[in-house]
Amino acid sequence: MQFQLTEDQRAVRDMVREFAAKEIAPVAAKHDREHSFPMATAKRMGELGLLGITVPEQYGGPGADYVSFALVAEELAVADASHSVIFGANASLSVGPILNFGNEAQKQRYLPGLSSGAILGCYALTESQSGSDAGSLTTTARKEGEHYVVNGAKQFITNGGVADLCVLFARTDSASKDAKGVSAFLVDTKTKGFKVGRNEHKLGLNASYTNQLFFEDMVLPKEALLGREGEGFKIAMATLDTGRIMAAAGSTGIARAAFEASVAYAKERKQFGRPIATNQAIQWKLADMDVTIEAARNLYLKAAWLRDQKQPYTHAASRAKLFASEMAMKATIEAVQIHGGNGYTKDYPVERYMRDIKIFEIFEGTSEIQRLVIARHVVGA
Ligand code: CAA
Repeated sequence: MQFQLTEDQRAVRDMVREFAAKEIAPVAAKHDREHSFPMATAKRMGELGLLGITVPEQYGGPGADYVSFALVAEELAVADASHSVIFGANASLSVGPILNFGNEAQKQRYLPGLSSGAILGCYALTESQSGSDAGSLTTTARKEGEHYVVNGAKQFITNGGVADLCVLFARTDSASKDAKGVSAFLVDTKTKGFKVGRNEHKLGLNASYTNQLFFEDMVLPKEALLGREGEGFKIAMATLDTGRIMAAAGSTGIARAAFEASVAYAKERKQFGRPIATNQAIQWKLADMDVTIEAARNLYLKAAWLRDQKQPYTHAASRAKLFASEMAMKATIEAVQIHGGNGYTKDYPVERYMRDIKIFEIFEGTSEIQRLVIARHVVGA
């Protein structure tokens, strides 16, 4: 058993840690306050090869493994959760389906741009009436000769308003109502009939755009089909398995930021004539954070390692995502508590961490869905 990162993995982690501290952390509060998309630093992530980190060199990426991919998600989230999610929507949710299910022409066409940040991607699965029950989606792609005609609407699409490429899930079999009739498509967002709706006003993650998307008689060539007709739901689920590793690692990063801020604050803040870090009540909170952050990291690294070994990892990814997001929610609440009244103000970053983490218990599959996936593996039903 080997508990050490490889030299390459350490190099990626350290490079991203430095980049995130120098270039992302200083702008995080501003983008949060202004609800503005951090295009400059998003493009920098592309220049550094992060946005397609697992893309092989032949398609313009650095060809790193999934352990490195997950470490990037953690390091970015320490500086700013929105950046980690922007990274994930590209490096995992957009790159993944093409890398794993695309044909050669699709890989050559899209992967270099997604890797360099020349184009940004989004993943359009969720609809207003189809969230946890992803197989019930109603956007249609009707086959007409050599084309598909797409109609419908998507909701809560990360990067939707800034994306150049959309991985779209739509129903090609109008007779079906479940997962079997779903297909995946690669859509240039400049295609006629593609419309971006509102950017949601959210509790947190304000620098990450979350849009409605509309498709009105949007005509796609048959070459836009990703994988085979009817394979879309499996493509969506397999993609989310990796997305859940990313969400677990991002959660771990947010918790780490909350923890590090709390340790520093507790050592500095004096009450009753001594630092509050000398109080056991505070020490126990910090000790719990220390243990659970390490446990979450081990869970996501195990899932990423299994993926790198080409072993089944659905169960491990759900475990990691469930534990890390719930752990980090708790850690950020405790961080605000440790900071007292200061923690409730925008003078300190912990209130942002507490707002940002909540969505990690919801997106990429809610905690309830993770428990369902885990329970199906445990019970075998
Ligand atoms: N990998 C590959 N295939 C899978 C799979 C996986 N992980 N999970 C299921 N499948 C396959 C099954 O094998 C099955 O295939 P067969 O019909 O050939 O047997 C098919 O898909 C249907 O599977 P289920 O019967 O299990 O489907 P279900 O309707 O019961 O749904 C579910 C299962 C786990 C509840 C699933 O719907 C789910 O994960 N829901 C949550 C959706 C979700 O995570 N949404 C997040 C939105 S994206 C997002 O948040 C990104 C963002 O913006 C940041």
